Formats: sequence, C-alpha cells, structure tokens
Amino acid sequence: MNQWRAQVLVCAGAGCVSCGCRAIRDAFRQKVARHGLQQEVKVIETGCIGSCNLGPLVLINPEGVLYHKVAPQDVEEIVVEHLLNGRLVDRLLYKDPSTGKAIPKMEDMDFFKYQQKIVLRNCGLIDPNNIEEYVARDGYRALSTVLTSMTREEVIDAVIRSGLRGRGGAGFPTGLKWKFASQSRETPKYVVCNADEGDPGAFMDRSVLEGDPHSVIEAMAIAGYAIGASQGYVYIRAEYPLAIERLSRAIEQAREHKYLGKNIFGTGFDFDVEIRIGAGAFVCGEETALLNSIEGRRGEPRPRPPFPAQKGLFGLPTLINNVETFANIPVIILKGADWFARFGTEKSKGTKVFALAGSVINTGLVEVPMGTTLRDLVYKIGGGIKDGKKFKAAQTGGPSGGCIPAEYLDVPIDYESLARIGAIVGSGGLIITDEDTCIVDFARFFMDFTQSESCGKCPPCRIGTKRILEILVRITQGRGKEDDLDRLEELCVNIKDAALCGLGQTAPNPVLTTIKYFRDEYLEHIRDKHCRAGVCKRLRKQPAVKIS
Ligand SMILES: Cc1cc2nc3c(=O)[nH]c(=O)nc-3n(C[C@H](O)[C@H](O)[C@H](O)COP(=O)(O)O)c2cc1C
Ligand code: SF4
Ligand code: FES
Repeated sequence: MNQWRAQVLVCAGAGCVSCGCRAIRDAFRQKVARHGLQQEVKVIETGCIGSCNLGPLVLINPEGVLYHKVAPQDVEEIVVEHLLNGRLVDRLLYKDPSTGKAIPKMEDMDFFKYQQKIVLRNCGLIDPNNIEEYVARDGYRALSTVLTSMTREEVIDAVIRSGLRGRGGAGFPTGLKWKFASQSRETPKYVVCNADEGDPGAFMDRSVLEGDPHSVIEAMAIAGYAIGASQGYVYIRAEYPLAIERLSRAIEQAREHKYLGKNIFGTGFDFDVEIRIGAGAFVCGEETALLNSIEGRRGEPRPRPPFPAQKGLFGLPTLINNVETFANIPVIILKGADWFARFGTEKSKGTKVFALAGSVINTGLVEVPMGTTLRDLVYKIGGGIKDGKKFKAAQTGGPSGGCIPAEYLDVPIDYESLARIGAIVGSGGLIITDEDTCIVDFARFFMDFTQSESCGKCPPCRIGTKRILEILVRITQGRGKEDDLDRLEELCVNIKDAALCGLGQTAPNPVLTTIKYFRDEYLEHIRDKHCRAGVCKRLRKQPAVKIS
C-alpha cells in the first residue's frame, strides 16, 4: 500500500462504465478532497473486477471490502462512515442470496472464493492507465529476465513445459507453436495478438485489455524475442473502444519507459507493437482471415497449410496467439513452468477465464483451474439457477460450441473431457439455461448467428448453414416434418467435413448436441406441435390433453 492508508478501487470495466461508474469515481475524488483525505486515500479506476451484474462496484483496500450497486449519492456516506469512522456501510454490502447475511469482504463471496486468478491477476486491482502500477506488481520483470538471462530456446522450452494451450478456441499447444515460428527461416517475422473476440456474450479478452493491457504487451515482446520477431500487431475489433483506448495508452507508456522500441534493456533486442482495428466480423477472428484483414484485404479465410508459422502476415512467418494465452506468459516466466503446470488437469494446464452468463444468480468473469466441473461453476461460483428454477443445459464455447445437459454437470471442463461429449472449451463463453429456454429455439439462435456471419467463400458453409437455419425455423413454427432430424444431422455432418475454415466446421455443433441430448424436445415440436418452454409462439405450451 506504500504511503496510502486506503485505496478506493472504482471498477471501470466496460460494464461498470455503462452503469455510470465515472460519476462515482469523480464523486470519490471530490469527497476525499473535501474531507482532507487526499494524502491518505487514493482513488483508482480499475478494469473489470468480475461480478459485472453487481456493478457499479467499489473495492476498498487494504480491507478488501466490496460495495455493490453504488450510486454517486452513496459516496459521501462511504467516505464518512468507512474511510473516516472505520464503519461499514451495510446497505451497500453484498448479501448472501440464501441467508441474507452481509458479506463485506470480496474474498469471502462465493463468486470469488473458488476462483484462481492467473490471467486476471491484475484486473480490478490496478489502474490500467498507469504503467507504474503494473511495474509495481512485477510488470516487465519477466521480459527483463528473458532478455538478460534466457536463451530463445529456454523461453520456448518454458512455455512448452508449462503445458499452456491456446485460449482462442482450438487449444493448440502454445510452446509448440512458438517453436515452429522460431524454426521458420524467413525474416522478418511477426507476432500477432488475436483480440477479435467475436463470440456473442464473451468478453474475457476485452476485459484483459481493459484491465491489464501491459501483460499482453509484455508477453508479445517475450514472444518476439523467442521467435526472432521485432514487430507485433494487436488485431482488435472497433466495438471495443475502451480496450483500444487503454491498450493505445499502454503502448505509448511502454515506449516511453523503453519496454518497447529499440535496444530494450540495453540488450540489442528491438520490438514494437501496433494496433490494427477490425470492423467486427466473427470470421475475422479466424487466424488466416485475420491476416488478410490486417493486410487490408477482405477478411476471408485462406486454406491451411501453409500455416501462419511458415507463411503468415505478408507471406512471412507469423505467430498468432489469443489475448488470454498471452496474458499467461509473464507469470509462466516469473513463477516457472512447473508452478503453472500444477493447475489444471494432465493435458489441460493452467486456468480458463469464462464469461458466465444466462440463468445463474452470479454472472460475470470467472477464472478457474482447468478441470473444474460445470456443477462447481454453476452452483458454487454462479450461486445456482435464478428464481429457484432447474438447470437445463450449458452452452460452452459460444456459437461453435456444444450444449451440455444436466447429466454431464460433473464432467471436468477441459479440452478432452468436453470434446468427448461433443462440446468444446472454446474461447470461454458459458451460457447457462433453465427450463424456460426452448432448446430448438436456442439452436436456432446460434445458427442464425453463424449463418449471417458466414463469409460465403465456400458453398457447404454458405448454403448448408442456410438450409439448417430454414429447417430449425420451420420446426419452431410448428411446420417440422418427421424426417427433419435425419436431414439436419446429415447436413451437419457434411458441413463439418466440407467447410474450408473453422466457422463452417464448427457451426453445426450446437445443432448436433441439442439433437443428441434433447431429441425428445425436437420431436415434441415436430409431432405434438408443443413447445414445453412456451417460447415458440405458434406452438402450445402445454401438451394436448388426450381424451380417451
Ligand atoms: C470463426 C472463428 C473465429 C475465431 N475467433 C477468434 C477470436 O475472436 N479470438 C481468438 O483468439 N481466436 C479466434 N479463433 C481462433 C483463431 O483462429 C486461432 O486459433 C487463435 O487465435 C490462435 O491463438 P491461440 O493458439 O492462442 O488460441 C477463431 C476461429 C474461428 C474458426
Ligand atoms: S467455412 Fe464459412 S466462413 Fe469459413 S471460408 Fe467457408 S464460407 Fe467462409
Ligand atoms: S465491469 Fe465492473 S465488475 Fe465487470
């Protein structure tokens, strides 16, 4: 805490910004000054603290007391009661939903208690606009360690041994990717950070860039050293203005402090980062489409091989990693590959950040060790299903992912276990549904998204997704036919096999898994013209009463 008696951390992630946290920050600065506390109390704007549904949030350290749903008119009371008189403002404390008891400390709340923060280690704790706060938490020490005491091979070896796998969706071993890029002979080489994050409902990458942009810049420089590149690009969508603003400022600060630029730490290593803004097409997150887009071309995927590690940006060797993947790197260097590998399962190491949404009581950003069960995520961290309803299904991995029914609540969330049941970890979107969700309509929603985001380059995806969508719409309107399920399954399998890129190859997943696990519900729509959730308006909610 240095010279400060207390820190007032006002969450300024995009969620809290949209709930008016800036006025709260200003009110704190004003009141702290009015009460003569400006030498003792520091008011800091942070990135997302995590439990966005409780925002605007204010965390007071060193006590670790969290106030939720704070309004500007509450600030005077917090300053007088908490900061001057040492008393808690009970009405603004989080209350346990089952007991109604106040839980003052953030660390005691179920939502935070079971998390393990590696990627989000600084989010919500530091001012992302101030490089000194990052440096004070060991920032850029991993880069200095790498440049002054490790060979390129040692860095790559550490990433391989950590077991880190790409967090952008496919889960490819990161160290191996670094090794391939380092082995490519052609120069120059590039490091690209994929911050496109087009999955609806997912905001992990945005939050890391908003809350801890330096961790990604530092990791990109480390990757540059490891593969022999001196230029990096962050590809980020235009819909993320706050992340772009904070990342731009962080890049400028890193240059001023000579963590970027020429001759970093006097070691002769040069590295710089630039931002490239995407227009917001889901397919542009696919790595080869992303490269086209950076080059100023239409964001359409290219056939692979050649892979970007051999022939990437401008036809030169390129390493592409996701934001969350990068954010793990400085910790792996500083704490060691073995430390990192202690978290997670045998083949899925470390943690994963999920954007927990839907019918759970606590929603927001959560980071848990790989292998945590869905049940723990939903019931321990998420606080269970809202309004006493029943869990119906979880959609993991966004529109490319799969739908997991209640019978698999105890399956550990890791790459292999989810693949076995037809789902994926994906980028980390996690939508929980209850009995009020119609599973056919749910599949239709995702297909509507992927179909409209298909770039149209290859017919199986362009036409096939359209046909699937038409059938799903028909079923939700009560015009389903007996052979529709066979037709859907056949179409899905063909598209998966024939599509050029991951968008088409994964688009059928929500349909296939919902048919697999909720076939009865599809049949009810088709045969009985009945939608048990009452979502499909042209169908009956209650089954027809049989009169014998
Ligand atoms: C349609 C589609 C969209 C994708 N969107 C993203 C994205 O927004 N962010 C991301 O990091 N990876 C995305 N990916 C995965 C990337 O192609 C690539 O695998 C990833 O950026 C590699 O980084 P990683 O190894 O660190 O995961 C997408 C893939 C597909 C097929
Ligand atoms: S699979 Fe779909 S998104 Fe991918 S290249 Fe083909 S048409 Fe485009
Ligand atoms: S944006 Fe404030 S808690 Fe997420």
